Amino acid sequence: MQKPKVFVTRRIPEKGLSLVRDFCDAEIWPDELPPSREALLRGLDHVDGLLSLLTDRIDSAAMDVSSNLRVISNMAVGVDNVDLAAATARRIPVGNTPGALTDATADMTFALMMAAARRIVEGERYVREGKWKTWSPQLLLGADFVGATWGILGFGRIGQAVAKRAQGFDLSVIYYDPAASPAFGASAVSMEELLRTSDFISVHVPLTAETHHMINAETLRLMKPTAVLVNTARGPVVDPNALYAALKANQIFAAALDVTEPEPMPADHPLLELPNCLVVPHLGSASKQTRDQMAYLAAENLIAGLRGERLPHCANPDVYA
Ligand code: DGY
Repeated sequence: MQKPKVFVTRRIPEKGLSLVRDFCDAEIWPDELPPSREALLRGLDHVDGLLSLLTDRIDSAAMDVSSNLRVISNMAVGVDNVDLAAATARRIPVGNTPGALTDATADMTFALMMAAARRIVEGERYVREGKWKTWSPQLLLGADFVGATWGILGFGRIGQAVAKRAQGFDLSVIYYDPAASPAFGASAVSMEELLRTSDFISVHVPLTAETHHMINAETLRLMKPTAVLVNTARGPVVDPNALYAALKANQIFAAALDVTEPEPMPADHPLLELPNCLVVPHLGSASKQTRDQMAYLAAENLIAGLRGERLPHCANPDVYA
């Protein structure tokens, strides 16, 4: 029997790739960088399934390249790169990888919050630049965790995993998420109260039309001058120009970004000139075990879709209505 034809847009970890190869006739994009638009459309020619990454824009034009396309499996929990409405209209289920990266992303959120609040990167640079002459009572002072308030914007899986970790640090945790219920000692508050009262603020909302630039000049203005902001969700949730202005004017203390707008962030981006802004290249899920698991789930979703079975993790369940 002929194997279904699929396009895999990058060399994903072997744990997922071997599963894909066993079941499919797979073309795997070999480069380090994502396929160009033209290469993506070419790769989609006559495919039955697509395994994409968050760097691939999968819109209706991409979906229409192959009339055989019956599943899109995105190796990410976020699916803002896929036009879900267009997929549902075409009865194509879209898979994602929730759960697999919850802990790794919550860990990264904590790591970034601690690094920004305690000025670890600034300190490291200071040493490398040969500036360390003595212990000094006022050198690179940061913020304390014990007794501080951590505000979580978006209280889904990752937001809750952050709250769970915060309990061990004796932080008081509040969240804003109209769709969530209290957990891990965190209390629900309005967005305005969260912004006004939090010492630490982390963002865990999906990118949608509603959350685009949710952190902007107006919301930054409500934050304490001592506030530290961390974004491990999606870059465009934070308006980079407004953040630059707020950090430059010391309107807030610091920010740490795992995700940026644009992404990748060019090395000459103004935010990178600021000592109180820390940027890492979208590493929230970047642990070996987590990426293996994401690849495995993505392969499982792909294969289920090719078999005509319900995807174990489907981002557009309306497709089954
Ligand atoms: C996701 O899965 O959406 C993450 O951003 C990957 O790190």
